[in-house]
Amino acid sequence: MPKLLITGATGLLGSVLSSSLDHRSALTRVALRTAAAGVRLCDLTDVPATRRLLAETQPDIVVHLAAMTNVDACESAPDAAYAANARATQTIAEWVLSDSPATRLIYISTDQVYDAPGPSSEERVSPHNIYALTKLWGEDHARRVSRHTVLRVNFFAGQTPGGKGIVPWLVEKANAKTPTPLFSDVLFNALHAEHLAVLIVEAIDLDISGTLNVGASGPGMSKAAFYRSALRRLGLPDGNFYDGSVADAGLAGYRPRDMRMDVSKAECAFGHALPTMDEGLDLIAAEYGRAA
Ligand SMILES: NC(=O)c1ccc[n+]([C@@H]2O[C@H](COP(=O)([O-])OP(=O)(O)OC[C@H]3O[C@@H](n4cnc5c(N)ncnc54)[C@H](OP(=O)(O)O)[C@@H]3O)[C@@H](O)[C@H]2O)c1
Repeated sequence: MPKLLITGATGLLGSVLSSSLDHRSALTRVALRTAAAGVRLCDLTDVPATRRLLAETQPDIVVHLAAMTNVDACESAPDAAYAANARATQTIAEWVLSDSPATRLIYISTDQVYDAPGPSSEERVSPHNIYALTKLWGEDHARRVSRHTVLRVNFFAGQTPGGKGIVPWLVEKANAKTPTPLFSDVLFNALHAEHLAVLIVEAIDLDISGTLNVGASGPGMSKAAFYRSALRRLGLPDGNFYDGSVADAGLAGYRPRDMRMDVSKAECAFGHALPTMDEGLDLIAAEYGRAA
């Protein structure tokens, strides 16, 4: 059984992926400060600490999710974003190159690297915020490892045990009845986190390599269409939601308007169609129905 190490194990995607991999005996889960059972704390921006962690655990596969993911925080603290997103990946990649060349590195990247009329294929990157730029630099370090997989993703979750996900936000806004804009000028093709976790496990097991867009199959949709569809499925009133523009939201970091990814290369590599956004929305509705 290969020894697996997941960074960012306590995050939104990491907690879902950790559950999918729980049955594997040799699993090390790593986080920065969220102390949880079975989680090892390590600041991956600390080079000696990270090298110590890797030397002690000797992973055969590193699934590197940890990142500074808040786009606006990255914009206001670019050095911290660089350290967390690029340099931490550099440290892991250089440990593999120097100490464990057979180790596989699976790096989770983002659809924020695209900013052109989509769907964008893998070579059409155009980073326009610090988050996207530092994640791309992270990709470059990951690709130095001979056995690398770079998955550019976007995902959503209904509700995680930590209270994250879109459902609590929608419920709160729908109940408060305060006017809430939904961006009709931002397009994406995100997967449900559960669907993405299954695909990451598949990428591990099938030894899928290279740089791949792992988003939802189909044409994608605007954020406004996505949230309206979720509200409908959850049976929540939508009278206080209105179509707005991301340009009017006063966000510190620039947001690409079209992050839709062409997933044909991934569908070829996985040997099947990827799930659709509608399937992800159905999953959210089913989870919500079970919780109600
Ligand atoms: N969220 C999205 O919609 C989205 C979209 C596209 C791509 N992605 C990519 O998907 C991956 C996972 O995102 P997420 O939203 O699940 O992340 P998240 O919820 O923001 O969680 C971040 C995780 O990284 C850990 N972490 C952050 N800085 C660290 C450091 N210096 N050292 C060690 N651990 C550190 C955090 O630990 P603590 O819990 O201890 O702080 C946490 O486990 C990221 O690589 C992100 O770029 C996310």
